[in-house]
Amino acid sequence: MTERYDVVIIGGGPGGYVAAIRAAQLGLKTACIESRGSLGGTCLNIGCIPSKALLQSSEKFAEAGRDFAEHGIKVGEVSLDLGSMMSRKDRVVTTLTRGVEFLFRKNKVDWLKGKGRIAAPGRVVVAGADGGTQEIEAASIIIATGSESTPLPGIEIDEKRIVSSTGCLALDRVPGRLVVIGGGYIGLELGSVWQRLGAKVTVVEVLDHVVPNMDRELGTALQRVLARSGIEFKLGTKVAGVRQGPDELTVELEGAAGQSLTADVVLVAIGRRPYTEGLGLDAVGVALDEHGRVVVDDGFATNIPGIYGIGDVIRGPMLEHKAAEEGVALAERLAGQKTSVDYDAIPAVIYTWPEVASVGRTEEELKAAAISYRIGKFPFTANPRARTNGYTEGFVKILAESDTDRVLGVHIIGPDAGTLVAEATLAKEFGASAEDIARTCHAHPTLSEALKEAALAVDGRAIHI
Ligand code: FAD
Ligand code: NAI
Repeated sequence: MTERYDVVIIGGGPGGYVAAIRAAQLGLKTACIESRGSLGGTCLNIGCIPSKALLQSSEKFAEAGRDFAEHGIKVGEVSLDLGSMMSRKDRVVTTLTRGVEFLFRKNKVDWLKGKGRIAAPGRVVVAGADGGTQEIEAASIIIATGSESTPLPGIEIDEKRIVSSTGCLALDRVPGRLVVIGGGYIGLELGSVWQRLGAKVTVVEVLDHVVPNMDRELGTALQRVLARSGIEFKLGTKVAGVRQGPDELTVELEGAAGQSLTADVVLVAIGRRPYTEGLGLDAVGVALDEHGRVVVDDGFATNIPGIYGIGDVIRGPMLEHKAAEEGVALAERLAGQKTSVDYDAIPAVIYTWPEVASVGRTEEELKAAAISYRIGKFPFTANPRARTNGYTEGFVKILAESDTDRVLGVHIIGPDAGTLVAEATLAKEFGASAEDIARTCHAHPTLSEALKEAALAVDGRAIHI
């Protein structure tokens, strides 16, 4: 007999699994189809979590060799056990993916293991790894199939010497020379990991600045710090191709630098593209845009009644928390509520050292929109907690609307910026003014005082600078 569900979600990543749990909490009979051997999608298996585990481990390694002496701590010779570092990363991933399985059991979500295809509105076929198929019926179908890394034409990924982020998270030795194509999130995070562990890292970026989606001042500051730590940058430079020799790779460059680079490993990190392969969208008539993204309206509905889309596979930033917010909002809508996502208050964090974090509009966006704004800036060199911790790199920059003082954007580079941006996000969510942040009492000594001081600086009255 064909099983009938209220909601069937294709894809068990942060968009899909969160939507499934919320739908089940609201009493909807829910199934989630996932073809990978574990739940959690790109984020938990090959994205956010393994990359942050390696960033944490490699930062500890770098600190032990670099910073302990300043604190009066003498350590013997610091050496690397890469196998243990990788095993730890794998354990963290397994713990978290099993955690999602547990949450499915707890909330009575059925995990249908296999590849999902939409046969018709209301009908999904699941092809299991064993070759068997199962057909199910669903009042609502959610496409949450995520994204995959964008290939660079002419350069074939083997995940050993020429790698995407997936291979770069599982190298079995530290490459002597790592060339990173693309100075975005992945390039700078994974470039940092291997640079800290001893690789000579060169980032080749086609634009004349890194992290193009963030406020330009943050990118410039981040590039300066990373260059100081030893990462080399070739900006405004295009890769023409990669030649494979028996012992090394040759990366042919065109553009400003007009030369070639030799490497042991090349990481291709030029962005990600929506993944809809084998879903049957063509046959059903679900519309895609020019980037291959599933087109949805404000309520996540596609052009075909009963079929919805969330996460990396639709428009907007490709971030875990954006996908998860959409999952909750859509599940609540399917249960009759009127939830929506505030796209103006989605933070973005790059987990390099120092971290970079942003919420709201950049200066470049405000200028382009001819919105008049005031800037308040405060450096971590003047923040006492940053001094006690020994990490004083970076600043907080608040952009507030000239007439209303409303916070339009907050951009932070510095220690723990990813945590600090939560306060700025809350401020944006509540429509706060810079004055609201400035009048809020912040504990001393904390890094968050830099946010208060930047808010005071919007009005030219910062105390400690
Ligand atoms: P995904 O997580 O991609 O999940 C989609 C799932 O659908 C996959 O598991 C796939 O196997 C499954 N699937 C696809 N087609 C089918 C089918 N037909 N049938 C069954 N299953 C199917 N974001 C952050 O916010 N913070 C970070 O620190 C961060 N770090 C990242 C680091 C790396 C290296 C990468 C690659 C990404 C990172 N991201 C980060 C981005 C984040 O991983 C994604 O935005 C997020 O995973 C998107 O969630 P999703 O549910 O839309 O898709
Ligand atoms: P990205 O979009 O962040 O950066 C890609 C970079 O490659 C850009 O700077 C772009 O100008 C450059 N580029 C494009 N084509 C190029 C070419 N031919 N040669 C050289 N440079 C080229 O994409 P990335 O780093 O691959 O990450 C994909 C997505 O995954 C991110 O956009 C983000 O949404 C997500 N992610 C988020 C993280 C986080 O939240 N901390 C960490 C890692 C990934």
